[in-house]
Amino acid sequence: MQQDIVQQIAAFKKERNAIILAHNYQLPEVQDIADRVGDSLELARISRSIVQDTIVLCGVLFMAEITKILNPDKTILMPDRHAGCPMANMITPQLLSAAKQEHPGAAVMCYVNSSAEVKALSDICCTSANGVKVASGLHENEIIFIPDQYLGAYIAQRMPGKKFHLWPGYCPTHMVFSREGLARLKQEYPDARIVVHPECRLDVQEIADQICSTSQMITYAQQSEANQFIICTELGMLHRLKKENPSKEFIPGSPNALCPNMKITTLERILWSLERMESRVEVGEPTRGKALASIERMLSV
Ligand code: 13P
Ligand code: SF4
Repeated sequence: MQQDIVQQIAAFKKERNAIILAHNYQLPEVQDIADRVGDSLELARISRSIVQDTIVLCGVLFMAEITKILNPDKTILMPDRHAGCPMANMITPQLLSAAKQEHPGAAVMCYVNSSAEVKALSDICCTSANGVKVASGLHENEIIFIPDQYLGAYIAQRMPGKKFHLWPGYCPTHMVFSREGLARLKQEYPDARIVVHPECRLDVQEIADQICSTSQMITYAQQSEANQFIICTELGMLHRLKKENPSKEFIPGSPNALCPNMKITTLERILWSLERMESRVEVGEPTRGKALASIERMLSV
């Protein structure tokens, strides 16, 4: 049955001249049929060099929006448009406008986990892979960082010369990791390295051997001498880590680290999407042009 769906997806992909991009948190079977799998920064970069007319984005809405903003002439499909990011919804254009009025001299640095409208009101975007680099390139000494307080704090700690106003947003999925839970795992796996996504709480970041984006975890595991890794990010990441490092062991930092929105996309939905050419993601002007400027500034760093 699954093989049947996989074959149908491949046939439609050819007929529609489409390519499938998937985030590292997608279901294993979705990652396995995708043409490219990556973190937010990689997916944005990859999307700019695609020759096909249609891109099926398997991830959450902000990722599909970025793909459309960067590729306005292509058809961008989301297999299920209900896949949102709760953190992205923790800041609105109205709230950001009020924060800008409160800190008129500050630059707005916006984590890509945000809506197109919020990006349009920001000066520059960043991802978990390039936050420190982006912040150090800003000439302003005051920064409003939205919406993730923990990624913001991670960057701020490494930029002591700049003043940060951190928005109080957070990722519910990354709140399940705790120091106590990791201490227990460390007793069981004393030689394991603790690898943490910067969306985790600061007390969890403090005991990490490595803090990095999802794809950077793969490079770290490949290059490390260690053979065991406790992974503090969404559970979908373990599929790719195991696939690309078959001789190493990956232990989830918590069995509860599920992002329900990342699991909405199934093979059946991808097939439906290609068959019906739905759900098309659109970002209207002038929002697209303004958001593009913030994303382009980030990509040029
Ligand atoms: P990455 O860019 O590290 O893949 O993170 C995206 C995300 O949504 C993490 O929760
Ligand atoms: Fe958003 Fe968290 Fe899900 Fe990432 S894991 S998409 S930040 S809710």
